[in-house]
Amino acid sequence: MNALLFERPVWFATGPLVLEEEPQEMEDFTYHRPVLATEAIELLAPHAGSLVVDGTVGGGGHTQAILKAGADVLALDQDPDAIAHAREELGHFGGRLTLRQANFRNADKILDELGITKIGGAILDLGVSSYQLENAARGFSMMRSGPLDMRMDPGSPTTAADIVNRYSEEDLTRLFRELGEEPAARRVASLMVKMRKDAFFTETLQLSRVIEKVVGRHGRRHPATQVFQALRMEVNDELGALEQGLRILTARLEPGARIAVITFHSLEDRIVKNFIRDHSREWLDKPEWPEPRRNPDHDLRPITDKPVEPSENERRMNPRSRSAKLRVAEKIG
Ligand SMILES: C[S@@+](CC[C@H](N)C(=O)[O-])C[C@H]1O[C@@H](n2cnc3c(N)ncnc32)[C@H](O)[C@@H]1O
Repeated sequence: MNALLFERPVWFATGPLVLEEEPQEMEDFTYHRPVLATEAIELLAPHAGSLVVDGTVGGGGHTQAILKAGADVLALDQDPDAIAHAREELGHFGGRLTLRQANFRNADKILDELGITKIGGAILDLGVSSYQLENAARGFSMMRSGPLDMRMDPGSPTTAADIVNRYSEEDLTRLFRELGEEPAARRVASLMVKMRKDAFFTETLQLSRVIEKVVGRHGRRHPATQVFQALRMEVNDELGALEQGLRILTARLEPGARIAVITFHSLEDRIVKNFIRDHSREWLDKPEWPEPRRNPDHDLRPITDKPVEPSENERRMNPRSRSAKLRVAEKIG
């Protein structure tokens, strides 16, 4: 069971302790602890009989909460491990849950295959899961030795090693600066290019040690955090997928249905914010136009004016939630 969502003050109980849920529904969050779960489900407002698309099932926390709220779920994840885990953990929901290994940017194809034209809601909880981060073999960790991979979908063509060993110095600099916001981007790229002339980068620690040499250790954050983040976002084309996913899922929402997006990076949040703004304007105006024109993209109403952020308590319990921002919008009729 999702303790964040269905927390009961059992320690205050005076009578015998009665568990209202079956043990098989206990969720221990070893795979991933869901972020902003209470807030996201409250604002998404799933209702019985509708079908919600969870584009990022991960450890299944949000999917489970939506199922418990009474809606059916089509859950996607590009990582086959997440799909296998969700099948095992949430299989008892039977036909109310459909699982597919897919990138949410291709949600259209999956919905068409299933004969679904409209959906009753959508949720995206971006980035990687704790399982992916901590599993050295997946290559996301800068502190554990593993292959320089970072693909969420192991079938996709480009690994982090391909980028580190093949991109030009200028492209690496731009990548570390734009996606990683790394102040030492140019110096890191320059040293990488120099070192790869002797031996290609193949392994995570080999790379993180080189970054550490340039960036140095300041504070508690690992010096390679930003460069690794940039590489992960590039390997998985995370910003491109987000733009496409937002368009596709919003177009499929039925009137009154909502889309909720949880981001962990300022560029992601900017994409979501601008998308909701651009789809919420009824009229467009430009100085060169004789009069305002109707916005052909007008199909949303913002539900959150400002992004919802985790409570102090959640930040303390789950440090990974710290940079999370939730935005929600509703399809207009
Ligand atoms: C932060 S976790 C989601 C956690 C989940 N909401 C939960 O409650 O456990 C992100 C998941 O989304 C998946 N993912 C990220 N981008 C994706 C995309 N474009 N398409 C499909 N899955 C994606 C990752 O593989 C990862 O499993």
